[in-house]
Amino acid sequence: MKAIIGGTGIYDIGESHNRLVETKYGKVELDIINIGGEEIAFLSRHGKDHTTPPHRINYRANMMALKEIGVQYIYATAAVGSCNEKYFPGDVVIIKDFLDFTKARPVTFFEGGEEKVKHVDMSDPYCKNLREKFYFMAKNQGIETKGEAVYVCTEGPRFETASEINMFKHLGGDVVGMTNVPEVVLAKELGICYATVGIISNWCTGMKGEITLHDIQKELDKSKEKVTKAFIEIFKGELNKNKCTCKNSIIEL
Ligand code: HPA
Repeated sequence: MKAIIGGTGIYDIGESHNRLVETKYGKVELDIINIGGEEIAFLSRHGKDHTTPPHRINYRANMMALKEIGVQYIYATAAVGSCNEKYFPGDVVIIKDFLDFTKARPVTFFEGGEEKVKHVDMSDPYCKNLREKFYFMAKNQGIETKGEAVYVCTEGPRFETASEINMFKHLGGDVVGMTNVPEVVLAKELGICYATVGIISNWCTGMKGEITLHDIQKELDKSKEKVTKAFIEIFKGELNKNKCTCKNSIIEL
């Protein structure tokens, strides 16, 4: 089974039904869509009515629910601000790594106790195979990807100060968002292949001021729809767990 987090604009493609999954971390509502005989799970990260702010999302319940229904591959979209002059509002980037500036959210399934102490390798946080597949499918579908990006995850829900953005730029960050950590980490702990495509919604604080989110909202929705359709095209083809290291990234010492 395959899943898309945050995707929109595809509800006309196939028949869908709702599924409530109960996990030890909480309940999660999913939309299951039948596309050409295959079921794809859709999860809206902030809840269907968009009421859960980034710092209160139950990331562990979300990811465990996907695991429990048998999901092995996940593509996610994420709206991000840009702190790299080369990446403009409206651009699409493939996230390749992250800098974690979150502060107060559960970030792991590995809580010790009965289990041994476990760690997870972060050499390739975002599945290499899924990233490559998206790069080629995007080209094929006429979606221009501007390149790879380092994602800075902040705690939110406030936006960053200009000084913070200046610091993130100097540290090697390209785009800033509030949700990819711990989402990507939890996926790896579960051995799920996971990749995120960033859609740039604004310049970060203190960068350039000319384009507001309001100006490009329509364009963003269109990009999100195109990206989601590319995910589905990839899901229609073969995917292979042997083309990456996602399934064996756990380190027990
Ligand atoms: N900062 C943090 N999160 C975001 C931004 C931003 O500028 N834009 C979209 N999500």
